[in-house]
Amino acid sequence: MDRNENTALLLAVLLMAVFFGALVYSATGLKISLPTCVTDVAPFKQGKIIDKGNNHYEVHLVAKMWAFDPPEIRLPPGADVDLYLSALDVTHGLYIEHTDVNLMAVPGAVNATRVHFDHEGVYDMICHEYCGTGHQNMMGKIIIAKGAVPVAAPPAAAALGGPAQSGEELFQSKGCVACHSTDGSPRVGPSLKGVYGHETDLADGSEVVADDAYLEESIRHPNAKLDKGYQPIMPEVPLTDTEVEDLVAYIKSLS
Ligand code: CUA
Repeated sequence: MDRNENTALLLAVLLMAVFFGALVYSATGLKISLPTCVTDVAPFKQGKIIDKGNNHYEVHLVAKMWAFDPPEIRLPPGADVDLYLSALDVTHGLYIEHTDVNLMAVPGAVNATRVHFDHEGVYDMICHEYCGTGHQNMMGKIIIAKGAVPVAAPPAAAALGGPAQSGEELFQSKGCVACHSTDGSPRVGPSLKGVYGHETDLADGSEVVADDAYLEESIRHPNAKLDKGYQPIMPEVPLTDTEVEDLVAYIKSLS
């Protein structure tokens, strides 16, 4: 081997040793570790609206498969909004109709902008970054209306009351709405309208009556009894017993 080749090889190996040493030193000596994911820390785990007074609001919007949290934001006209956007799972996008807002929702990062809502109306929030099977249904709403009390709850829920109302809130906030309609129209998953108490065709050719036990099982273990014509793509969402009961109550209310 040529002497110059030897020197180049030796230098390359030395350089690698230096870089590796620097990594080990920064991790152990300087105690530098990977940054914590911002959505692991309290302020950005959950969507919220903070009233700062003078018609000025801080909105924390969290994107996740396949919904925005909060799914609906109600504010009075003239509202100034400081918007902070993050994501819990994969990269999503946010476009707010009739505004200049066009942001990426990136896990581990917060993107911010300021937006002013002069006119009353409904502004759709749309995910414009492909994020999985439920992407095309991932949307939310900003409702600007006179006398609106700043809240982040779906309006129809108030009419139900009790467990069914909590169930509807979960249905929105857990993202179920991205794949299941409540008006009978099929989406990625079957519609939940009129399911309760009726016979359902399963993928294995059998039939089952959609009673409490069946709904509970299908919420906890979505692929245990797969509906005919649908793919086994629904994730197992961690839910407490009460949350499952509330969801069942909500599905019952749709029959
Ligand atoms: Cu979220 Cu597309």
